[in-house]
Amino acid sequence: MKNIVVANLKMNILSVLEREVYLKGLDKELIGKKFSDTEIVICPPFIHLEGLGKWKNKKISRGALDVFWEDKGSFTGEISPVMLKNFGCEYVVLGHSERRRFLRENDQDVNLKIIAALRNGISPVLCVGEDANQKNEGAGVIIKQLKNCLAGIKNGQIENVVICYEPVWAISSNNPDHLPTTNDVMSARLIIKKFLVGEYGLRVSEKIRIIYGGSVAPNNAKEICVDSGMKGALVGKESLTPRSFIKIVEIING
Ligand code: PGA
Repeated sequence: MKNIVVANLKMNILSVLEREVYLKGLDKELIGKKFSDTEIVICPPFIHLEGLGKWKNKKISRGALDVFWEDKGSFTGEISPVMLKNFGCEYVVLGHSERRRFLRENDQDVNLKIIAALRNGISPVLCVGEDANQKNEGAGVIIKQLKNCLAGIKNGQIENVVICYEPVWAISSNNPDHLPTTNDVMSARLIIKKFLVGEYGLRVSEKIRIIYGGSVAPNNAKEICVDSGMKGALVGKESLTPRSFIKIVEIING
């Protein structure tokens, strides 16, 4: 099972020109590099998905940053999983704390979106993690989110879900005063793993990638993502700088 490094571009890259500069930067950083053990996924705002599809670099997969739970119809402003599939998207980030916070998304919404993504052959990257006020009840928060968001997801589907442990307090835009240690991340990984083993059995759980997100940078990727046994990373701010992002991929690829 390959590692996976996902770029969460959030609401950045404001024009076609900016996109071209960004992709050229990635092309430059990727020259002569092959990451046989790591899949790279770029998740831009929807409007750039088609442009990324025309990019000649085929080493990188595409993902979206949201999806609606219906396939088609009168849902003004929403994006269907069928559209994502038809535009070449393989992944979608769901349950991100910024959507929970600013758009009031809850676990039930996320569950419907996961079901819709899987129904259409798109792999969800499900974000779970405690916020600053929940630090002392981290395990309970993570398990509740997993239970709710994965309700009804069966063996045969769950293998296509990537679980991202992303402590909300460690996200760079929340101005973290410190980051989790290797041990903290390892503990969270074990909590998630135990839940998956309980729900889906050991054999299936081995096929589910658990990754880390929150202020991942070249100078901490080994400690937080590799030494903790995570299978990759969800990268926000540092994914906007091609050099940093590809450096993180290199570190995770090993
Ligand atoms: P960050 O963002 O890497 O800038 O902390 C991660 C995320 O919010 O997914």
